[in-house]
Amino acid sequence: MACIPFIDVAAMTREVWPAIENDYLECLLSGRYIGGSPVESFERAWAEYCGAGHAVGVANGTSALQLALTALGLGPGDEVIVPANTFIATAAAVVHAGATPRFADVGNDTLLLTPQTLRAAITPRTRAVIVVHLYGQVPDMTGLQAVASDKGLLVIEDAAQAHGAQWAGHRAGSFGAAACFSFYPGKNLGALGDAGAVVTSRPEVADRVRALANHGRVHGSAHYEHEFVGVNSRLDALQAIALSGKLAFLEEWTQRRITLAARYRAQLRDLDLDLVGIDPLARHVYHLFVIRVAERTQVQAELGRRGIQTGVHYPVPCHLQPPLRRYAHGPMPTAERAAGQTLSLPLFPHMTNSQIDAVCDALADVLRHRNAGAKFAEVQ
Ligand SMILES: Cc1ncc(COP(=O)(O)O)c(C=O)c1O
Repeated sequence: MACIPFIDVAAMTREVWPAIENDYLECLLSGRYIGGSPVESFERAWAEYCGAGHAVGVANGTSALQLALTALGLGPGDEVIVPANTFIATAAAVVHAGATPRFADVGNDTLLLTPQTLRAAITPRTRAVIVVHLYGQVPDMTGLQAVASDKGLLVIEDAAQAHGAQWAGHRAGSFGAAACFSFYPGKNLGALGDAGAVVTSRPEVADRVRALANHGRVHGSAHYEHEFVGVNSRLDALQAIALSGKLAFLEEWTQRRITLAARYRAQLRDLDLDLVGIDPLARHVYHLFVIRVAERTQVQAELGRRGIQTGVHYPVPCHLQPPLRRYAHGPMPTAERAAGQTLSLPLFPHMTNSQIDAVCDALADVLRHRNAGAKFAEVQ
């Protein structure tokens, strides 16, 4: 039985390695591992790619979110709206910044924040919203920004899953007062360990993030002079070299994800499942290929028995995670329903067409047996 992995991170590393090998070794042998020209040149390239003025490399995506919130002046007493359907880090960063997460439900088609669900969550204490480009799709930024500006809210993008995604021709990272990226190895642009970045077109926000991420040191001041109480959240030079190398492949890899996703969509259209909707104005970059299916747990187990690895993003909506329940203010019916149905199928740039076809065939077979009422466990 052929095994189909959920993701193949090492295939990306193998492809990029010849291009970065020399720089990597040179840096390794130089002994200069923190900051320096590799970090500066990746920051310039990443800001330009996103269509924003500045990028500040940091230690990971969660830290990027927390630093962006703090740099924008959000803290105790401020509510920050977060979609209920996201990875816990989005809401955890709000808590770390000392502010209060306020959950909003998502739309049933895309499972992303909508102008309506945003508006419904706003209270007099709301000061900002974190718009999450989940699965690789930027939501309706035109509508979301209109609500935010009407209500005087800052917009922060959680673009951890959306490198190169677009809304109306503009890239993720170019919409908010700040946008936060994760370069966790499995992301569309992934480092060889943890890494992240804050992207912004506001120079004062970039300066503040840079200082906060480096123990509160302000550019130009002496090494042991600190203007703020900051943290240590810097991007390593070796990670920056890997990221610059992979950035050269990002468009090709993204295009491959889009092509593979189209193949999935064409074959899955007639099966007894739902595809997550795509807005015509969005360029979805398919960090994850998510379907919705009844009896998800059994379907996942049966695919696993057939050698196909899948994931669930996410089995528990954020407002029902035990440490965050105290911030929940009521049910989020769409996010709660989706949490019981979503299933992420394998998708990665080095996946082959025949692997996609094998997943579709296996899924069709599993669903056929389910619909026939047969016991899943008896299926060979
Ligand atoms: C939507 C979302 N936000 C935030 C993060 C946090 O990023 P990191 O793991 O780099 O801290 C992730 C990463 O998994 C994510 O998927």
